[in-house]
Amino acid sequence: PVHHVHYLPETDSTNEVALHRAGEVAADQSELVLTSRQLRGKGRGENRWHAGEGALTFSLITPRLSLPREQTPRISLTAGLAMCHAVEQFVGGGHPQLKWPNDVFLNGRKAAGILIESPGDSVDRFVIGIGLNVNNPLTDAPAEVRDLATSLSEAAGQSLPLTDVLIACLQQLDACLKLLLAGSEELARGWRSASLLDGRKVRLALPTEAIEGVCRGIGDDGALLIETPSGERACYGGVVERFE
Ligand code: BTN
Repeated sequence: PVHHVHYLPETDSTNEVALHRAGEVAADQSELVLTSRQLRGKGRGENRWHAGEGALTFSLITPRLSLPREQTPRISLTAGLAMCHAVEQFVGGGHPQLKWPNDVFLNGRKAAGILIESPGDSVDRFVIGIGLNVNNPLTDAPAEVRDLATSLSEAAGQSLPLTDVLIACLQQLDACLKLLLAGSEELARGWRSASLLDGRKVRLALPTEAIEGVCRGIGDDGALLIETPSGERACYGGVVERFE
């Protein structure tokens, strides 16, 4: 599934590297940008991503994906669902959940974050950046996220072979992106059944407003559905700042 691998022992952000390299990758090819040590990981919104030693940190430059424009919000959910499937293989009966649009949660704590970007000149090529806590000790994490995070090794009760985890992630991303391109309904079923926020009170921060209400699930098109006092809203962007 991956045509090229670009490994950097250390780098600021694999997403930044991938965004710069994307123009050089042929339209029908993909490239994996992988690092052992990411120094300035970017998160969604204003967030940063801290990855300790033993974490999996990579960005996948996708081939050009011919998707109708209104389907691009589904890419986020598709990547998140793929990561849930991959994580599930290593946590012995644990059920990863998807916090819209693409955070992977295990036992109520975040195990993986995903940041999807497009290279400046492109509308159909994506950089899917993934940070997955695998064997990295969470005691290394910044104090403000320590109690909110978990790792695969914590959930599995043992350390895990990083290469096997990486291969599972890449296989699932490939399989799920193929389902997306084929217009399969299986994906929407998958993200609905993995959804963490359903029935919970949420606060979604958008650039110009915040929407508060009760989450009523995820739509087929990937929207977060929020029941507010003024009716149901279908939301396509933003960050869920709070949920209870
Ligand atoms: C989030 O949870 O806010 C998204 C975190 C995404 C982190 C990954 S790590 C690899 C890639 N490179 C980055 O700079 N960020 C993403």
